[in-house]
Amino acid sequence: MENKVLKIQQLKKEKDAVVLAHYYVPDEVQEIADYIGDSYYLSQLATQVKEKTVVLCGVSFMGESAKLLNPQKTVLMPDAEADCPMAHMCSVEKIEEIRRQYPDVAVVCYVNSTAELKAHSDVCVTSSNALKIVENLPNKNIYFIPDGNLGRFVAAKVTDKNIILNDGYCPIHKQITGEALEAKMKEHPQAEVLVHPECVEEVTKLADYAGSTSGIIQYAKDSDCREFIIGTETGVFHKLLQNDPDKKYYPVMEPQICWDMKKITLDKIIEVLETGKNEICLSEELMNAANKPLEKMLELAK
Ligand code: 13P
Ligand code: SF4
Repeated sequence: MENKVLKIQQLKKEKDAVVLAHYYVPDEVQEIADYIGDSYYLSQLATQVKEKTVVLCGVSFMGESAKLLNPQKTVLMPDAEADCPMAHMCSVEKIEEIRRQYPDVAVVCYVNSTAELKAHSDVCVTSSNALKIVENLPNKNIYFIPDGNLGRFVAAKVTDKNIILNDGYCPIHKQITGEALEAKMKEHPQAEVLVHPECVEEVTKLADYAGSTSGIIQYAKDSDCREFIIGTETGVFHKLLQNDPDKKYYPVMEPQICWDMKKITLDKIIEVLETGKNEICLSEELMNAANKPLEKMLELAK
């Protein structure tokens, strides 16, 4: 393990590379990353790093976003198969149909989406800025894709807009049930409940806080409470425990694991740094179209 860490450090220098990781990747990958964060932080950061090559430890939409915001950089994915199923849960045909029905619609696309879906959208959002961006759009009609749960979460708070929902979902967050959460709350009555807005409504309704992975981590850090029930992927436990190892963190149920995120390993990072394989390559036309809603997100989220 130590050898692998040293090897990665040496390769990063040789190749002028930086390693970015999402909180859901395995602990040993978070340990060697130069930066760890939620989707918003990672996309913002991609525009600021100086290195020529970015190794994106996460799923494909994260690598694509880094590439779209940095066309001149080389973006490498440790595992080309690591993908987010929700990213595919809408279609260009559905978007076009809604645009025909509501000519003034703003298509708001969660970053957990393919570059193709982004290319047909007006603005991107992440779980940390969706509410703010939707609230500030001038459009009355909003088509929120692909996540129906995040869309409904936003719609419940932005009541002066007509938010049209799509039926996409995250399989990992969707399996967390209100019933399981209630049972956990009985087991740990003192605990605060922190969940991701990709969870179903019966879960977000019971939460003390619903927000992005960074939001959950920050909330637990700032809170005086000593125990937390966590309704998101358990990769966040690494940072939660680093921040305060004396606090207690319980998952709602087991497993809360995104197996695609867990495909990232130290060996695969070494391999892509050595060979340059799994580079994100998108056509210029797709890059131009999909970059616009992402840039708009960065501008509106400021
Ligand atoms: P965050 O933007 O909160 O990190 O969420 C990303 C994700 O994939 C949640 O399932
Ligand atoms: Fe996609 Fe869900 Fe995995 Fe996040 S946890 S990357 S939304 S499948």
